[in-house]
Amino acid sequence: MQAISEAELNRLEDLRKQVNQALNLMIEKELGNGAGEVAELAGEMLLSGGKRLRPLLAIIAYEVAGGKNIEEIMNLALSFEFIHTATLVHDDINDAAKQRRGITTLHERAGQAKAIIAGDWLFVHGFGLGGLYTKSIIDLVTNCCANIAISEFMQLDHVLNLSTSPEDYLQIVRGKTAGPFAAGCEAAAIVAGASQSDAEALGRFGMELGIAFQLMDDLLDLQGDERMGKPRGADVIEGKMTLPLIHALTLLHGEKRKKLSAILQQFTDKNWDELMGLLETSDSLGYSQLLVRTHLERATLELQRFPDSLSKSLLMRIVEHVHQRHM
Ligand code: IPE
Ligand code: IPE
Ligand code: MG
Ligand code: MG
Ligand code: MG
Repeated sequence: MQAISEAELNRLEDLRKQVNQALNLMIEKELGNGAGEVAELAGEMLLSGGKRLRPLLAIIAYEVAGGKNIEEIMNLALSFEFIHTATLVHDDINDAAKQRRGITTLHERAGQAKAIIAGDWLFVHGFGLGGLYTKSIIDLVTNCCANIAISEFMQLDHVLNLSTSPEDYLQIVRGKTAGPFAAGCEAAAIVAGASQSDAEALGRFGMELGIAFQLMDDLLDLQGDERMGKPRGADVIEGKMTLPLIHALTLLHGEKRKKLSAILQQFTDKNWDELMGLLETSDSLGYSQLLVRTHLERATLELQRFPDSLSKSLLMRIVEHVHQRHM
């Protein structure tokens, strides 16, 4: 793995700063227009950190596709961040999460009713920004948002369903996480005036990267990483069927499988060591890590058709960062 060069680091930081400034400005404008508490609450969550992965991907994919004027893509990049933050606010209600982006979740502070509305407020502004573009872009945004809803329903219907298959899992992940990554990259390429095949290649890049990203997120939940800002095993408590669990349920048999199934159905932190022991027996974390690498390799392959440039190397850095979860 190559070390990140200074030019790459500076450019990433500069872009992140530009995104943050533009987000700040939008919230200030809304507060100035009298949006009041809903803008304060939603704005606080929007501005309280976050890796800005989706807007960064949109901007950099735009450049890789030949785009030269960042102003042309900024509203779309912001649109994806607004929509993403909206899904987080709603996701945290459904997942009963207490912390997000290092602060107390919105529903914990303001109650569920206001959190739902603040999430809607973020959605509406996201759609407004996306709506500044042409029909094909609007369709990509619409479809990826609709697919988030479809796959969140599917995930709910699979809670504690011990016969959930890897295909079910992948379908959920494509919809809830990777689809928006893909839509952001493909839409950005269209704004840049790329050919259909280049735009689709960047869409596939986003899809593969997004799958790897959610696989990592699910792995870190089981590894109890402090970067997650929530208790280890939150997904297991939720009854969410993530890939390591699906893999272990497939491989283990007899008493071990019975034990695993019993633990999953009544998981508390007391069962942590036992759960980890079982996942180790089937090397299920190793299996997920292998798949992360596979999807990141596929993502990288999609970039081969584009000429070398600083922007392309930034996309490769993001691929590496997803692997190490440094972003
Ligand atoms: C969290 O996304 C939701 C998932 C898809 C796992 P991020 O990890 O990108 O969240 P922020 O934007 O950095 O807070
Ligand atoms: C995130 O899924 C996908 C969304 C559509 C928000 P998770 O429920 O795994 O996200 P985290 O782990 O809470 O960030
Ligand atoms: Mg969730
Ligand atoms: Mg969640
Ligand atoms: Mg998660």
